[in-house]
Amino acid sequence: MAIVTELDLPVFDYSAPDLVGEVYHRRLAEAAAQGWLAQGPLSYVVLDRESGEFFLRSRATAFPGRQIAELFGVTGGRLREQIDANILNQSGEHHRRLRALVGPAFTPRAADRWRPAMREFLAGLWDGAATSCEFVAAVARPYPALAIAAVLGAPPGDAPRLHEWSHWVQRQFDVRALATELPRIERAVAEVYDYVEALLAARRDDPGDDLVSALLAAEEEGDRLTRGECVDLVLNVLAGGVDTTQAQLAHALRLFAGHPGQWALLAADPALAGRAVQEVLRYEPITPFTARVCVEEVEHRGVVFPAGSIVAVCAERGNRETEAGEVFDVTAGRDARLLTFGAGAHYCLGANLARAELEEALAFLAPRMPDLALDGDPEFGGVEGIYGLGSLPLRWSAPRDRSPVAALPHPS
Ligand code: HEM
Repeated sequence: MAIVTELDLPVFDYSAPDLVGEVYHRRLAEAAAQGWLAQGPLSYVVLDRESGEFFLRSRATAFPGRQIAELFGVTGGRLREQIDANILNQSGEHHRRLRALVGPAFTPRAADRWRPAMREFLAGLWDGAATSCEFVAAVARPYPALAIAAVLGAPPGDAPRLHEWSHWVQRQFDVRALATELPRIERAVAEVYDYVEALLAARRDDPGDDLVSALLAAEEEGDRLTRGECVDLVLNVLAGGVDTTQAQLAHALRLFAGHPGQWALLAADPALAGRAVQEVLRYEPITPFTARVCVEEVEHRGVVFPAGSIVAVCAERGNRETEAGEVFDVTAGRDARLLTFGAGAHYCLGANLARAELEEALAFLAPRMPDLALDGDPEFGGVEGIYGLGSLPLRWSAPRDRSPVAALPHPS
């Protein structure tokens, strides 16, 4: 049996500054061609789907949030409090209990309830007269923050603040940001805690049809969520639910700008939006790596990972391990199992909401942006945390038919 520390592994540096766009995909493909395991700067890197699922589902592994915090000297204060309470850093019975309590608020049906609000937000952001824009600022950034504000029952006017906080709070998972921007992250966590406490107090006096009220109602039934757990869960939703969808939507438009035939298909039939979203999530997962620490010795494929080993699971390679996997094709109808939302107990809580937001956005935009094309180079972010775009200049033609465009059918 080989011990992982003694193996001569190919090196894959996920923090290399030039690792963007096609270079990133090419380098990953080269690493995967040499085997299923590589050596990264702070962890091993698992490059195939089966091994990725193995590490994500194993009871002998956990999300390494606390280890990462310690590595960067986050040993006290509200950020550390938040990290300790983060649902991703819980395990066993405690984690199962939290998921059971919040699960009903995140079913596909629950997500569908917000679709009319999502369409309203898109209509409000859309400038019908324009034929070019910087898409991140115009739509991708404000839209998910508006959607999360609605889900939380916060006023739409708070969306920019929620976006700002979410952006910084989620950076607790980004090693580059922890190294360079810790004070800013700490400040955002303190501010958002105060905001969420106030939101909870307001909803307690005046309950509504929103997630905060639902969590509080569960608390008031007695043996359910404590007030502190409600606050932490709202923070998790905020941290996990804004930059992610923003990044995935921006990449979606970038991909379609390079595949005009597929964009035209979607414009002609917005009911294709579900498949289009699935293919975008598969081809360009904005969480290309998530991580696990082995809490005890783990053996996989004849390799021993001692307790304390950190493993990055590569969703990008896992997702492309399918027939013609390097080709973006919304019509291909491939195997539905993706690693984009993780796997096992910590599978993304907001996956249904994210899919609904993305489907509504693509169904809304495709008919309104014929002949979509890049209008300059996109600005790519790094791939270690959330792989987003800083900017995405786009242009398109004025739609020929200005009659109201069909919206995506939905169940309610
Ligand atoms: C395209 C959008 C999204 C992507 C790609 C994504 C990706 C992920 C991934 C990969 C995980 C699992 C991480 C792991 O196991 O290490 C996760 C967990 C999580 N996500 Fe998302 N996410 C997205 C949108 C959202 C949204 C909209 C929300 C909130 C409404 C959300 C809330 C969460 C939460 C709370 C967890 C932790 C679940 C747990 O620990 O049980 N995510 N997400």
